[in-house]
Amino acid sequence: MSFTVAIDGPAAAGKGTISKAVAAHFGFAHLDTGLLYRAVGRRTLEGFGALEAAQALTAEELEQGDLRTAEIAKAASKVAVIPEVRAALVDFQRAFARRSGGAVLDGRDIGTVICPNAEVKLFVTASPEVRAERRFLELSAKGADVTREQVLADVKERDARDAERSAAPMKPAEDAVQLDTTDLSIEAALAKALEIISAKLPAT
Ligand code: DC
Repeated sequence: MSFTVAIDGPAAAGKGTISKAVAAHFGFAHLDTGLLYRAVGRRTLEGFGALEAAQALTAEELEQGDLRTAEIAKAASKVAVIPEVRAALVDFQRAFARRSGGAVLDGRDIGTVICPNAEVKLFVTASPEVRAERRFLELSAKGADVTREQVLADVKERDARDAERSAAPMKPAEDAVQLDTTDLSIEAALAKALEIISAKLPAT
């Protein structure tokens, strides 16, 4: 049986943390689809073409090195505007979503483009200021030399590029449940997500 949970939303809204915890809770597999775009973005920083990198992408590449740097995030958001790059990554994501035993995919276009028939769709948001603060704390903890102002500017720039691109822009699916985490602790946000998903699980 396949059961797909699509979790979309902007950077640092809590998607990743919620997705991981949801997958662990239900025993589902989890794919952070941002890593696909980050792996392609990293290749472009090394001088490769974006489309070639997307076509040659392997699952192993997603686990290599730290893809969660600010520089790679920016490169990822740039390659993500290219329709052919997005198209080259579709099959991998759909195959993952259909695996038996349940899957959680998080990204920007999972509920709208990759898995329009997902059993559950969540759109996780938070104000840009709160998201920037969370990302700032995360990056500082890793020793990155960044300022709050810089991180907020990056968050806003990336939001604009992700939401305004014509290929699969970031937006909630019509049937997505919106979860605003601005004033929620991670525990409270997770509890809501689990409640929404549990209600859609087939009775056993
Ligand atoms: O979620 P993230 O920060 O790791 O995503 C990095 C970039 O990849 C983001 O700016 C937009 C892009 N992305 C996308 O276009 N579609 C997805 N499903 C996931 C990420």
